[in-house]
Formats: sequence, C-alpha cells, structure tokens
Amino acid sequence: MSTLLDDLILLASRAPSAHNTQPWSARIVSETSVEVSVVPSRTLPAGDPSFRDVVLALGAWVESFAIGASELRFDVSVEALPALERLEELPVVGRADPSSPVLRVTLRPREAGTGSPVGTSPFSADDVRQRGVFRGRLAGHPETWDDLVDVDLPPWLSVRRLDDRAMAYLSRLGIAFTASRPSVAKELLSWLRLDPKHPRYRLDGMTDVMLGLPRPLARLAAPATRRRHLRDPLLGVAGVIGGASESLERARSLRPLALSLAESSPDSPTHLVLVANARLAALDDAPRVTAAMDSSIGIAEPDVLDAGRVLQRLWLHAFTRGLAVSPHSELIDSPLAHGLLRKRLSLGRSDVALAVFSVGVPSGEVPRSPRLTDVVS
Ligand SMILES: Cc1cc2nc3c(=O)[nH]c(=O)nc-3n(C[C@H](O)[C@H](O)[C@H](O)COP(=O)(O)O)c2cc1C
Repeated sequence: MSTLLDDLILLASRAPSAHNTQPWSARIVSETSVEVSVVPSRTLPAGDPSFRDVVLALGAWVESFAIGASELRFDVSVEALPALERLEELPVVGRADPSSPVLRVTLRPREAGTGSPVGTSPFSADDVRQRGVFRGRLAGHPETWDDLVDVDLPPWLSVRRLDDRAMAYLSRLGIAFTASRPSVAKELLSWLRLDPKHPRYRLDGMTDVMLGLPRPLARLAAPATRRRHLRDPLLGVAGVIGGASESLERARSLRPLALSLAESSPDSPTHLVLVANARLAALDDAPRVTAAMDSSIGIAEPDVLDAGRVLQRLWLHAFTRGLAVSPHSELIDSPLAHGLLRKRLSLGRSDVALAVFSVGVPSGEVPRSPRLTDVVS
C-alpha cells in the first residue's frame, strides 16, 4: 500500500502551483493515509499574503491524488485540519512542520458495484501528468463552457466569462501593480529560472521555456534574477514604469460587458473567472460563515481547498479538449484590477473571484514544467 501512496504522491506533485512553488509536503502516516503540510519557504508572502494561491494549489494536489486513486479503484476522503485555517501563523521561511499538517487524505477501496469498473473520475492519471500551462498565443475554439458535467461544479462555484477588452486592460493594470511593488516583483524574480545553469532549473520555479522567452533575451535577463546589484536597479526602473502605467491606465472606460462579449472575435481565447459565493458555500455549515469572515481570502480555507480541486478539473477539462490554459492571477492580486473586475462581472458582496485564466488552442508546444520530484539524470 505504501508504494501505492508513494505513486499517488508522485502523481499529485504534477499539480499546478503559483510560480511553480510546489508549496506542499506530503508524508505517509498510515497504511492508507497521507498528511500534507505547507512549506513556508514555498509560500509567497508578498504576492499571495492571503494564502489564496497556496490553498488553491493544495486543492489541485488533492484532486490530482484523487484522480490517480480513482483509476486504481480507490475513493479518497479529505479532511481539512485546523492548521489550514491558521496559515497566517506560518513562519515566512523554513521547512514544512510535519507536526502541523493542514490536511489528511485517506484511501478507501471502492465497494463492489459502485462506480464504473475503471474509476469514477472523468480524468486520468495521464491527463494529470500531461497537462501544462501555455503562455504563448492562444487561438479561439468552439468549446462553449456551458457543459461542465465532468467538472462537477458545486452550486456555490460559478465560471464567469470576461471579454477580451476588459481582460487586456485589467491584465495591464495587474502587471503594472506587480512591477510597481518592489516586494512582489522581487519575489517573482526569485522564482524565475532563465538559464539552464541556474541550480534549481530542473526543480521548481518558472523557466525561460515555460515563459516562452527567446533564448538570447532570457540569457541577458538571467543575471538580474540572481545578482542583487543588477536586480535592485532593475526593480527601481520597473517600479517607476509600473507606477506611471497604473495611473495612466486608471482613466480607461469600457463598453458594457454583454456588448463586448457579443463582439468577441472567434479567433480570441476565452477568458474565465472562477467565482465562489461565500454565503452559499457556508449554507449547510454555520461555523463556516464566521470562518469565511475570518479568512483574508473572503471564503473559508476548506472551501478554497475544494475550489482548488475544481480549478484543476477545469484545467483538465480544457486539456482533454486539446486546449491549454494561461492563468492571470494579476487581475486578482492588484487591488485596483480586482475592484474593476468585480464591477465588470457585477459580483455581489459574498462573491469572491478566486482565479482568472484564458483558454484556447495553443499555438505551439506546451512546455513541461519541472518538479522537485523529477528524477534528474
Ligand atoms: C492558483 C494558481 C495561480 C496561478 N497564477 C498564475 C499567473 O498569474 N500567471 C501565470 O503565468 N501562471 C500562473 N499559474 C500557473 C503556474 O505558474 C504553473 O502552474 C506552474 O508554473 C507549473 O506549471 P504547469 O502548470 O505547466 O505544470 C498559477 C497556478 C495556480 C495553481
């Protein structure tokens, strides 16, 4: 059984995570159970202070584990542990604390006669292994996103469409925000691996290939991600440009969403926003209402964990249709872009935008991202 758990942990490590930080540390604690702790040095204190992206990534990890288990005719039960709602107590750096796991996943053999013989998930372990983010040009596609049966959206989660113009505008605002906040930009640079000579090139972070950067440009920029005397002036310049474009962009006005969506070109990718409703999520569970109010994400962490599972299913839904996803968290990270996004989608008080991504037909090969668990030859 422990080989089985090892295999499932290896599969789950293919889950996506912001900046490819892989913030999880899994430990087999019994014949059938695995506990997962968060690795403090793999969180993003500047870019993700609410731990939204960390918990979404943990959810994607759980979903990947469950897909592998399902293929082997096991169900999983997932227990969110109290430490999941106390992530702000984590240190900013350091290793995972195995005595303070955030979740426990337990395998249960599927009872005879339930589910299909080969598993109940519509996705396969191979889908989990092969899915990847694509940051190059995405072309339009006939997929409507109305039929999400395989994604199995709970009633408190919805997928909203954003128009091309708003997407481009809010993304520019979000990028300007990142550039103009030295702590956020510095953190991003520390996860870039622009040269194969970088000691962590095959382990974590985002490589030049993943970002689709031309090789000469990547080699030119690489030293600035590692050498302080080059990085700090670069951050200074980026800050000035980012700040200036943030104020310039602020003045823009957009046509109504419905009109702009109707005018969307069929050649454009689709832009989607995963929205959670905190009130509906807490409906059957009164303590969750307070938990949602306590959480800086605006929704209780165990619900964000479930949303992370759904996010992985959405990305796999795209993958199994020959499409690729390009995430755009900058629309949520920048308070200004986030506010305008909420307005654009007419979100209510208890609605929380958790993830933004574009989907389309990739114009090139989808690069393979590294993992800590890859065997480096
Ligand atoms: C919650 C979450 C937020 C993310 N935000 C972004 C983003 O804003 N921009 C981006 O380019 N990639 C984003 N990503 C994608 C990760 O960078 C990507 O998953 C990671 O580098 C591993 O690559 P892979 O998904 O191709 O395996 C995000 C992923 C997750 C799970």
